[in-house]
Amino acid sequence: MKLPSHGSNPFYLYESLQIPLLEKQKRIDFSVNINPFGPPPMIREKWQSYYISIEDYPDPYCLQLKELISKKEHVKEKEIFIGNGASEIIFILASALLKNKKVLIVEPTFSEYQKACEMFGCQVSSFLLESEKNWELYADELLNAIHEVEAIFICHPHNPTGKAFQEKELYQILKEAAKQNTFVIIDEAFYDFSTQNHSMVQYLQKFPNLIILRSLTKMFAIAGIRLGYALGHEAVLEKLKKYQPEWSVNAIAQKIGALCLKDDEHVKRTQQWMEKERNRVSNELRKLGFDVSDSQVNFYLLNEPEKQDLKELIVFLLKHGIVPRHTYNFRGLEGRYLRLAIKKREENDRLLEVLQKWRKICSYL
Ligand SMILES: Cc1ncc(COP(=O)(O)O)c(C=O)c1O
Repeated sequence: MKLPSHGSNPFYLYESLQIPLLEKQKRIDFSVNINPFGPPPMIREKWQSYYISIEDYPDPYCLQLKELISKKEHVKEKEIFIGNGASEIIFILASALLKNKKVLIVEPTFSEYQKACEMFGCQVSSFLLESEKNWELYADELLNAIHEVEAIFICHPHNPTGKAFQEKELYQILKEAAKQNTFVIIDEAFYDFSTQNHSMVQYLQKFPNLIILRSLTKMFAIAGIRLGYALGHEAVLEKLKKYQPEWSVNAIAQKIGALCLKDDEHVKRTQQWMEKERNRVSNELRKLGFDVSDSQVNFYLLNEPEKQDLKELIVFLLKHGIVPRHTYNFRGLEGRYLRLAIKKREENDRLLEVLQKWRKICSYL
C-alpha cells in the first residue's frame, strides 16, 4: 500500500486503502489546511462553475487529461507527462535529461530550446535548414552531427516555416540516433493544424529515445492557461517527474484542457478551414511577388525577394495596423523574413490589401 505523500485529493487516499470513495457531500477533508470559508466571495461568484476546482488542490497526476490523451493518441497513461505549456516542459526536460550534454538544434527555430539547454550547461550546436532546399530536412546531412551529440531538437511541423518534413527523413534520424541512445525531441506544438497527420507518435514504441512535445496553446487558443504535454518512454518521463513540483498544473488548466481535448469537432473544422485559407492567402501573396514558405499549418514565412532586411516593411505594416513577427532572433533568418499567422478571412484580406499597397509603393522606389 502506497499512501499519498500529501493531504487533499482524497481520491488517492481512498484508493490506496481500497475504500470506495464517498461522494463529496458525504466527506469532510481534514487533510487539507486551507481557509474553511473558501475563497473570497467575489472570486467564488465569478468562478461559480469552477468553484470545486479552485478550492481544492489540483489533481497532481492530471488523471482526466491523461485518460483523454491516452485514448486520443493510443499511448499508455504512463507515457504522458503534463506540464504548464510545452515551454515549461522544455526546461524540465533540459534540467532532468540534458544537463551538461551535447545538444543539436535544427534551426531556424523556437528560441526556448537553446535558452533551456544553455541554462543547464549544455554544449549547443546548430544544424541550419536552407531556403534554397525549400527548408527540407534531409537525414543524410545530419548523420555526422547526430553521432556527436546526446540530444537533438526538431520542431515539426516547423516553426517558423510551417513546413512538414518527410516522415522517412525523420524516421531515418530516429533510427540513427537510437543506435547511441541520443534523445530526439520532436516539438509537435502545431501538428494538429495539419490535415495530413504530421505526427511521429506512432514511433514511440519503437524508439525509446523519442520524446514528443505537444501544446494546447495553439489549436485551442488558450495561451493564458498554460497547458502542454510530452509523450515518451515511461522510464524517461519518470525522470522528468522528479523535476516537476507537486500540483504544478493548476485545476482550471486541467478543467479547460479536458474540455478542449473532448472537442474533436473544433479541431477538424479548424484544420479544414485552415488548409483552404492558407492556400488562398499563399496564392495571393505569391501573385504579389512575395516568396511564401510551403506551410502545412497556421503560419508561414514571407520573404521579399529583392530585400536583405525587412525593417522598412515591418514599419510600413505597423503603421497600417498589421503586426508581423520579425525574424531577427531566428538563426539563419536574421531579419530577411517575416512570420505571419493565418487569421480570420477578413483579417487576412486586410493584410493582403496593405501588402498590395506596399507593392505599389515599392514599384516607384
Ligand atoms: C514550436 C513551439 N513550441 C512550443 C511553444 C510554446 O508552447 P506553450 O504555449 O505550450 O508553452 C511555442 C510557442 O510559440 C512554439 O512556437
